[in-house]
Amino acid sequence: MLFDPIQIRGQEIRNRIWLPPMCQYQVEGGDGRAGDWHLVHYGARAAGGFGLIVVEATAVAAQGRITVGDLGLWEDGQIDRLARLVDFSQRRGSTMAVQLAHAGRKGSVWPDLPQFPRGSQPVDQGGHTTWGPTAEPFPGLAAPRSLSAEQVAALPDQFAQAARRADLAGFDVVELHAAHGYLLHQFLSPLSNGRQDQWGGDFEGRTRLLRQVVESVRRVWPERKPVFVRLSATEWTDDGWSLDDTIALVERLTPLGVDLIDVSTGGNLITRIPTAPGYQVRFASQIKRATGALTAAVGLITEPAQAEQIVQSGQADAVLIGRAALREPAWPERAALDLGVDTPMAPPYHRGALRRPA
Ligand SMILES: Cc1cc2nc3c(=O)[nH]c(=O)nc-3n(C[C@H](O)[C@H](O)[C@H](O)COP(=O)(O)O)c2cc1C
Repeated sequence: MLFDPIQIRGQEIRNRIWLPPMCQYQVEGGDGRAGDWHLVHYGARAAGGFGLIVVEATAVAAQGRITVGDLGLWEDGQIDRLARLVDFSQRRGSTMAVQLAHAGRKGSVWPDLPQFPRGSQPVDQGGHTTWGPTAEPFPGLAAPRSLSAEQVAALPDQFAQAARRADLAGFDVVELHAAHGYLLHQFLSPLSNGRQDQWGGDFEGRTRLLRQVVESVRRVWPERKPVFVRLSATEWTDDGWSLDDTIALVERLTPLGVDLIDVSTGGNLITRIPTAPGYQVRFASQIKRATGALTAAVGLITEPAQAEQIVQSGQADAVLIGRAALREPAWPERAALDLGVDTPMAPPYHRGALRRPA
């Protein structure tokens, strides 16, 4: 079933093996524009057979970047270079998604590359001022400034403008990043949203921003194109955002035009996460069962048989292969061999086809 196509709205996706968003930190000069690295990196995975590729966290505002090396869609000049990699990858058969993101209080950190230190990149060393639901910092990072109610009210339009640009760049899908402790997640969680106004307080108040972002994006994003949302289904602590909260939220998001939940966990606090192969799959499965929503599972899915079993057993509609795909751009091709499925290779590579021994 991994290689069965799936239809979501007007979009047919060729298989259930997808590339999750993974920051590359390869934007030079901090202008948010894609370069050669992005074309080669995403293009290679399109040629390698991924059904859908989610381009890394792409900032809806300069102050929403995680690092200075992040992609952006906060101005029209950022469209062209993305359009080139979208077109190249679509011509290799991949459906192209982009993850629209705002880092909030977790922004302005050093790129996660071996040559940089960890932690906040100070403003006087090329970083930027960060903004959060309150002035409470993420542990170990510089304190953000607290967004005014008016500034929060302006965020849905920033996401919508970025979605409009994503459409112009040719993307087939937008994914809203509401996981991993970034701004939309910061608003959802009682651990990071201590606001007393309409953007905080109870479940209704804390989910208001994400719901308005979805509504604003849906107003500009073509109806035939899917919208995904990435959520952290749990914060792995008793007093935080929970699976029950997630299920209640998904029930509110689906009628607003969200088509699929990309189910991750954690990221909003420092705590021990019990990682193991497929450790987040059960959340995708529980959300799917409780709400009927389409889900994608992610997290230490590395083996073809494991991936096949997740889709086959109905725990999720697709799997996302992250770090394993950093090591192996043609992971889907190898999975096809392992599972005995005949899939067409990228034509220039046909003589390297991984054939089973006769
Ligand atoms: C280098 C790197 C960058 C990442 N960047 C993002 C990102 O931009 N957005 C996001 O939602 N998750 C990001 N993640 C998390 C991955 O999408 C994925 O959820 C995680 O790596 C677990 O899947 P895996 O075990 O298959 O790697 C990143 C992970 C890695 C390794």
